[in-house]
Parts: sequence; structure tokens; C-alpha cells
Amino acid sequence: MMATRAQPRPQPARPQSASPARPERMESARSGEQGRDFEFTSADFARIRDLIHRSAGISLSDHKRDMAYSRLARRLRARGLETFKQYLDLLEAENDPAEWEAFTNALTTNLTAFFREAHHFPILAEFVPRRAQPVSVWCSAASTGEEPYSIAMTLIEALGDSGARQASVLATDIDTQVLAKAEAGMYQFDQVKHLSPERLKRFFLKGTGAHAGMVKVRPEVRAMVRFEQLNLTDRDYQLRSQFDAIFCRNVMIYFDKPTQAQVLARFEPLMKSGGLLFAGHSENFTYVTQAFKLRGQTVYELTRDTGAAARTPARSSNHASHAGSATTNGVIA
Ligand SMILES: C[S@@+](CC[C@H](N)C(=O)[O-])C[C@H]1O[C@@H](n2cnc3c(N)ncnc32)[C@H](O)[C@@H]1O
Repeated sequence: MMATRAQPRPQPARPQSASPARPERMESARSGEQGRDFEFTSADFARIRDLIHRSAGISLSDHKRDMAYSRLARRLRARGLETFKQYLDLLEAENDPAEWEAFTNALTTNLTAFFREAHHFPILAEFVPRRAQPVSVWCSAASTGEEPYSIAMTLIEALGDSGARQASVLATDIDTQVLAKAEAGMYQFDQVKHLSPERLKRFFLKGTGAHAGMVKVRPEVRAMVRFEQLNLTDRDYQLRSQFDAIFCRNVMIYFDKPTQAQVLARFEPLMKSGGLLFAGHSENFTYVTQAFKLRGQTVYELTRDTGAAARTPARSSNHASHAGSATTNGVIA
């Protein structure tokens, strides 16, 4: 195992209530409330922003107000409540991890895709054979799994079956709902139709019968990926081993600069010498950290030396054989 267990649940930082001194701007809230089932004031939105920032590091901008309403309204319905104030009071008073989990899950944005920002994968493919084996990659905002599975597929293509058998991908996210979907590894065909026929055949099983129109990631690819819940802004998360590469794409955009700096500082000791950090297309860490320098194409390299990461031959193992030996067009079990 490459890492200790991540925290089992989003342990919120037990935020305190937002200051009651803040005057409720009922006029503006009322005008925006027409047609809404639940009372939702400006003070409620301010409180939501404060709570999600403190528990998940997410900075919700003003224009996310309607999104917050519609996503959390489901929690009010589920709990039989009439106002957002009641819900937020209950959330803080009960401090129930399951409700905090639902609150956090509701407010994350999970957009992702297979081989998203495709230029990163040839860089990873060229990088990993030069590394000491076995290689390990951490996908730190894995969402519904498309990204960590794309990484695993790239490792198989780059290292061959025997090298990839040793390699591992740790896939984490704060959102437990997306992780459950990721672990199932089942997708609509539409989500993979842009992949080459070779990749489709090598890495996916095609659904039939009740699963027609679906694909499932082959077991040998899924076996390379371990999913864990982990909050990047949690100061206490425990990862024991170091990684050759960390993917942290399209999540930092939700964090403010101090939170980004804190997240990057935690990455530094978790990276092997010469390790690569992959960022999202609109994320720039140059002014946030000195520990990583831009190598180009939103890929950063660790600047300090953490000891040898020289190439050693891949070892053999007893793992199930990889995709090359699997049958094609299998049926989802
Ligand atoms: C827009 S998705 C990006 C998914 C993928 N990395 C990609 O680029 O396609 C952002 C993901 O970050 C996760 N996230 C948000 N805050 C987080 C936190 N504090 N710790 C870990 N993951 C977080 C969300 O749950 C969501 O799945």
C-alpha cells in the first residue's frame, strides 16, 4: 500500500456560526427569492460561503448564489425544513459528519472528462519510463474517475503490462458521492466516444442488455487505482509515501491564494525528486510557491532535491495481467 488511509469523511473544521452582528439584507434577498420554496437570505448565503470555505477551502463567488440555493434546497427537503437558517443552524448544532458530507458534496463542482487537457498525457507517458520503478501517481481531485483512469491507461501504454502492474494511482477527492461513481468505473458510451478505437478496445468493456450504451473500465485498469476520500485543505491528512507525479487540476481555481499556497506546501514533501505537478489550464502557481517551477504547458517541476529517483528495473508481481491479454468487447458484469 502506498499511503495511509485518508480521512474517512470530510471532517469539517467545526466552523463556528457566522457573526450574528451581520445585518440581514432581507430586501435584496426577498427580490431574489420569488418562486423559491424556502426562505434564503443574504445572511444565509454569507454563512454558507463562510462554512464551505472553512471546511473545504472553496471560495464561492457572488454569482454562485442560485447554485447554492438549488443544490442545498434538496437537503432542506430531505430534512423537512422550511428555511435555510434552520438548516444551517442544524448543520452547526448537530455537527453530524453525514450532514457535513452532504453539505460539502452539494457544493462541489465535478466537471471532468477522459483525457481532459490531453497534452498532459504524452508528457506523463514520456516521463514515467525514466523514473525509478514502480511509479506512483496521485490524482488529488479525482471527481468521478475519468482523470485517474486516464492516468492508469497512460501508465499501461508507457510502461507495458509488466511495468504497469507495479505502478499505482491514488485517486482522492473530498466528495464521497463522486468517489462512489468513480469506483464503479461505469460510464455512458458518449463520454468515451472521442477515444481512439485502440483505447476503447484495450481499456473498456462494452455494456449489453440492461447496460447497453454504457462502458465499464476493465478490471485490470481499475485494479491500479485506489480511491480515498481526502480534503486537500485538511491540515492533518496523512499520506506516507512520495509520488512521481501529482495531478491537481481544476480544483485550485476554487481556492483563494492563501489556501492554494497551503495546499502546495503540503505537496512538496510528498513529491519525489524531479517529480511533476500537473495543473489545470487556468491555474498558475508561479506566484504562489517557490517549491515548483513551471516547466511549460501547465506542468511544474519540483525545484528541490529529495534524494535519488534513479531508474531501477520494474519488478514482477502476482497481480492480474493487464489489458493486453484481456478479451475484447466483454460484457459488463
Ligand atoms: C472541476 S472538478 C476537476 C476534476 C479533475 N481534476 C479534472 O480536471 O477533470 C474539481 C474537483 O475537486 C474536488 N474538490 C473540491 N474541493 C476539494 C478539496 N478541498 N479537497 C479535495 N477535492 C476537492 C471536487 O469535489 C471536484 O470533484
